Amino acid sequence: MMHPTINLPTLIAHRGYSAAAPENTLTAVRAAYDAGATWVELDVQLLGDGTPVIWHDSDVSRCSDGRGELAMITWQQVQHLDVGSWFGDGFSGEKMASLEAMLALLNELNMGVNLEIKVNKGRDPIALVDTVMPSVLAALPAERLIVSSFDPAALAHCRHFAPKEALALGVLFGSTPKEWRAQCEAVEAFSIHAHWPHLKRSQADAMRENGYQVLCYTPNDPSAFDSRWAWGVASAITDEPAAFQRYLNNQRQHG
Ligand code: G3P
Ligand code: MG
Repeated sequence: MMHPTINLPTLIAHRGYSAAAPENTLTAVRAAYDAGATWVELDVQLLGDGTPVIWHDSDVSRCSDGRGELAMITWQQVQHLDVGSWFGDGFSGEKMASLEAMLALLNELNMGVNLEIKVNKGRDPIALVDTVMPSVLAALPAERLIVSSFDPAALAHCRHFAPKEALALGVLFGSTPKEWRAQCEAVEAFSIHAHWPHLKRSQADAMRENGYQVLCYTPNDPSAFDSRWAWGVASAITDEPAAFQRYLNNQRQHG
């Protein structure tokens, strides 16, 4: 059985175009699109009332004008949060994106998504996957979707919702563990998403030789990252897709 045919882009805009707009918002995804990105990486979690939302942290203090744990607030309470003004005056009034609204926007823009199942400390991976997967699989074609996670239980549960040929799964690693192969085989992974400063060339080679696509997060300096392309890295997941693209275009012209 083959994986879905996914034309991986060279660049994936991390949390949307998060250098230019408040991360994980509808505005950040539109900004990524406007900057020429065709794929975004986004984090998904549940609110306390079970609503799936696009959010990275376990609480709302860093990226909103409110405070409190995500697990303790409801969708109704979220309506009072401004998730844009922390980033800049031009973004005030931005609302937290529901998964539903984000999926609609991704389809409107025909964008691909690397959706990270974000299991923060103390949260339930199974409840998150049970809520997220049916909507995501109903909304997006397999060619525009990678579901990724650091959490092995979340990935294993995702695999129950769709077989290898219908769903690309990405295994996230900080440092690559010794048993990386077993972890990837257990979920029939499509890709490995590695923290780029920790990835060694020998590891990248072994990953590719074992049939996995290698993606790297989160390089933001294209010249520092440059040597990694020769390692066969398929995609860089970056906060700076426009700067990265300019650098690559320039290299191509003068290379
Ligand atoms: O999916 C890549 C990257 O987003 C993983 O780390 O903490 O930025 O979600 P983090
Ligand atoms: Mg992420």
